[in-house]
Amino acid sequence: MDTTELQRTVAALVQEPKGLLAADESNPTIAKRFASIGLESTEANRRAWRDVLLGAPGLSEAVSGIILYEETLGQQAADGTSFPQLLVQRGIVAGVKVDLGKVPLANSLGDEVTEGLDGLAKRLQRYRAQGARFAKWRAVYNVSPTLPGQLAVKENAHALARYAAICQNAGFVPIVEPEVLIDGDHTIERCREVTEQVLHAVFHALHRQRVVLECMLLKPSMVLPGKRGPNAPPAEVAQHTVAVLRRTVPAAVPGIFFLSGGQSPEEATANLDAMNRLGAHPWVLSFSYARALQEPALAAWRGDPANTAAAQRALVHRARMNARAREGRYEPEMENEAAH
Ligand code: 13P
Repeated sequence: MDTTELQRTVAALVQEPKGLLAADESNPTIAKRFASIGLESTEANRRAWRDVLLGAPGLSEAVSGIILYEETLGQQAADGTSFPQLLVQRGIVAGVKVDLGKVPLANSLGDEVTEGLDGLAKRLQRYRAQGARFAKWRAVYNVSPTLPGQLAVKENAHALARYAAICQNAGFVPIVEPEVLIDGDHTIERCREVTEQVLHAVFHALHRQRVVLECMLLKPSMVLPGKRGPNAPPAEVAQHTVAVLRRTVPAAVPGIFFLSGGQSPEEATANLDAMNRLGAHPWVLSFSYARALQEPALAAWRGDPANTAAAQRALVHRARMNARAREGRYEPEMENEAAH
């Protein structure tokens, strides 16, 4: 495998001080997000929302790559430019979510596994012709005193590694996303224990599938207490998360781009900042948020074209705050610089 192009894509994605915007909600997920502003999920509304996000002035100062949903790759901005082409013009790398979602894992009650490996190499050829250069696959792990089971840990690791190997061979940088879910009333220690098991299994599987670690990115969840319990302060989240990453993620991996997973936008920023204050780390620690970047923008937009500029300012503000957090230079007072 010639890794020259993969290395170029990685270098573009990890550029200082940037992170990634996840705008790859599947149609059922975006329907839920739109329901929060009373908007119907039609193809036209999805296109309009992605047009607001991708066209935000100043976004490329803080965002190096955007993960798109398959439908968005084939859609166009209002002026007729295809969305991937628009991103190229803005110096942003286009990515695509390639998993087909999760289903219950047979014979393992409460566990789930992600589908989408069959035919993946063929789909990647199409996405490449449309302009995508990196990909994402999400595995989820439910947490309880007995979940996730060993079978789910192993099967999801296997699928993530197979996906990553197929991507690299097709010229795509894979983002490997194992998400330990925040739902539940578990302690931060339980989340830490599960996250360590999960990441250990994922890197074992990546090794078995001969994935080139220098040409992939990891997108993990942070180590957090379950959302039905009290929040943990950023210093505690940072200490647990960095400790687990140091035990499990080889230094050859160039970047770790966290998901936000149901944290508030400000929490996700403060937690990332606290981790970077513990540096130096062997890998870049940055962001790849969907909700924690989009929520304030979506609330400002409400489906009304008259609110486009306000929504774009809200998005770029959050991206800038997270770019500061990537450098360990975020202060909550900076929130007042906001979006006016
Ligand atoms: P959140 O940041 O909303 O968790 O989404 C990230 C993502 O890409 C989920 O797959």
